[in-house]
Amino acid sequence: MTVGLRMVGGMGGNITSCMPDTSRANPRRAAITGVATYVPDRVVANAELARTLDTSDEWIITRTGIRERRIGAPGETTSTMGAEAVRRLMAARNLGPRDVDVLVVATVTPDMLFPATACLIQDRLGLENVWGFDLSAACSGFLYALTTGAQFVASGAHRRVVVVGADLMSAIIDPLDRTTAVLFGDGAGAVLLEEAEPGYGILDFVHRVDGSGASDLMMPAGGSLKPATTGTVAAREHYLKQNGRTVFKFAVSQMAGSVERLLERHALRATDLAAVIPHQANQRILDATADRLGLPRERMASVIARFGNTTAATLPLALDDVVRGGKLKRGDLVVFVAVGAGFTIGSTLVRWS
Ligand code: UT7
Repeated sequence: MTVGLRMVGGMGGNITSCMPDTSRANPRRAAITGVATYVPDRVVANAELARTLDTSDEWIITRTGIRERRIGAPGETTSTMGAEAVRRLMAARNLGPRDVDVLVVATVTPDMLFPATACLIQDRLGLENVWGFDLSAACSGFLYALTTGAQFVASGAHRRVVVVGADLMSAIIDPLDRTTAVLFGDGAGAVLLEEAEPGYGILDFVHRVDGSGASDLMMPAGGSLKPATTGTVAAREHYLKQNGRTVFKFAVSQMAGSVERLLERHALRATDLAAVIPHQANQRILDATADRLGLPRERMASVIARFGNTTAATLPLALDDVVRGGKLKRGDLVVFVAVGAGFTIGSTLVRWS
């Protein structure tokens, strides 16, 4: 690994921030050279949820900005969605089965706890020359996987790394819990990382975790702490639980704070950014973050109305929308930012090529 890491303390309580040590950085960088996505066909609009839950289209839109989400068909899984996103990416870039070196899959809904979803995607696509693994960082998963994958390119160890964000959230959402059932959806996205031209690509990142927030967004059972029993099933503990208000407040302050730290290090202002690609949890979080940063709201990418919160897939879905909309041109500065369960927090600065 050529980008050294230094631990920076004192950024709030016992929180430590992990930043790349640019003084030792290898000038070789990774660039995002392709993006593709997949979402299931089935559209579930708010009105459909309001037929079985004590909620309304109006509450969901005004409190979250979500109008509809995609829900996987029976038989669809995180690996089938992820594989389809990778297949589309490879087709778009004309890559064959021997052309991908590494597959990093961010997800909190793997098909199984093991083997890794990366192995299932490799097998489904017949990739002949790849190694890979899953990465668990919830809503920041794609961002952390991007940083991880970029190191393989920056070090010169590998030429082509595919980073996937995929989650079948419908597998872990309690259909009887209106506080979470309206928020999430299913989807997948993938990006290709290759060596960047000098001055372009993934320039820097600020990531940190704060495990004191672990109980505010989690799935209580199914791990080594509480293996599955008839009791955990009866108590509905295999579903996601969220303390929405706490996570909301944390997300608003930390998304803006993370981006500010990143911008400060490069003597940039938010208005220097062509776009911010944020994790899509709530339109109110996106608007508040844009306002805190002094970023025009239209530069804050948003696809939440169509897809809801797809956890690890939100960043590639939003990036794909921005790229397809022709909103990024060569040389533009872009920031990716996410806050999620853990808590996990991060932002990444890219000069688009
Ligand atoms: O992606 C991972 C990170 N996750 C996030 O960033 C999510 C952050 N949190 C949020 O986005 C918001 O907190 C929610 C959308 C989850 C909730 O919005 P809120 O404005 O914070 O609502 P609240 O939790 O304060 O609840 C307000 C009221 C409550 O009723 P009372 O106690 O005031 O009578 C809730 O029971 O709204 C009620 N409520 C609902 N009403 C209708 C909660 N969910 C619903 C619902 N439909 N679906």
